[in-house]
Amino acid sequence: MNTKESILRRLRAAEDYLSGQQISRELGISRAAVWKSIGKLKEEGYPIEAVTNKGYRLLSMDTEDTDLFNGAEITAHMHTSWAGHPLYFAAQTGSTNEDILRLSGEGSPQGTVAVTAVQTAGKGRRGRTWISPDGNIYMSILLKPHLPAPKAPMLTLVMALSVLEAVRGLSSLGDSYAAASSAAIKWPNDIVMPGPDGQYRKICGILTEMRMEETEIRDIVIGIGINVNQTEFPEEIRETASSLRCLLGRTVNRSLLTARVWERFEDNCNRFLEAESFTPLKERYEDALVNRGREVRVLDPRGPYTGTALGINEDGALLVRLHGGEAEEGTVRAIDSGEVSVRGTGGYV
Ligand code: BTN
Repeated sequence: MNTKESILRRLRAAEDYLSGQQISRELGISRAAVWKSIGKLKEEGYPIEAVTNKGYRLLSMDTEDTDLFNGAEITAHMHTSWAGHPLYFAAQTGSTNEDILRLSGEGSPQGTVAVTAVQTAGKGRRGRTWISPDGNIYMSILLKPHLPAPKAPMLTLVMALSVLEAVRGLSSLGDSYAAASSAAIKWPNDIVMPGPDGQYRKICGILTEMRMEETEIRDIVIGIGINVNQTEFPEEIRETASSLRCLLGRTVNRSLLTARVWERFEDNCNRFLEAESFTPLKERYEDALVNRGREVRVLDPRGPYTGTALGINEDGALLVRLHGGEAEEGTVRAIDSGEVSVRGTGGYV
């Protein structure tokens, strides 16, 4: 913990003013150093009052209405035992997936998380770029599970469910978050929310990367990009993407949401790893699956086809009943996420 974080922790815990002298004595630093750190905290947006002859006091912060996004804020909200320990926060980085791949090589443990507010080289699925402006959450986690490699892709579904539950959980913060409960999963791992026109838009994407050592998993990195407070979108994704702020009509506290994602992920991942199966999470995932019961267009490289999405099987594959007009009408096909993408017949979902 650095000086700034130590001061913040003391200010949070204090019931009254804390004098500069007291802080400097407790931390073993000069009063000038205390003053400098307080200045930095104020610059970051912490409402700190300074009163002559009394000292410093942190004014009450309504967490929901602020968007202070940094490592200390995330840690203050987060109650996990392994996910997010350690947690690295950077104001800007290239790609948090790349950061975690490097940290893993340096011996970082399972659960290590990298979080940032801006990415300059964000990676999306299928080799695409993930444009990563300020206002959102970009983060990745390191996993080193003892798991048969074919089961690893299911971890992406575990993450999708966890982000979904964290987003939906915002609705308990008050009426202005009520719409968060309408968030859903578009198979396999996009989080979507309906706009005022009823059309679902993507608010989160997940990219999983796995490295092998012969037949064993060496490490897995799961990266998440959540569109939180972004208000402008490039032309090419304006119809299909949006952010929580645009859809809820209010700013969302990124530190709080980050902490909630890791809390949900730790719990869901523990259940998945213990069972070595998606079964304990399947029902909750399917309940959140927006494709369920809907007509879908399966973009199979061997030829596209349409059908009705029924749910998922134990491996996380999407079950689709083929429609009339298809050669094997009525047959149920299990679609593996690695092979194809799925669209709604009337739009993105
Ligand atoms: C997708 O294409 O839908 C997946 C996007 C994943 C983006 C996240 S942002 C944090 C992490 N770092 C990256 O470079 N990509 C992932």
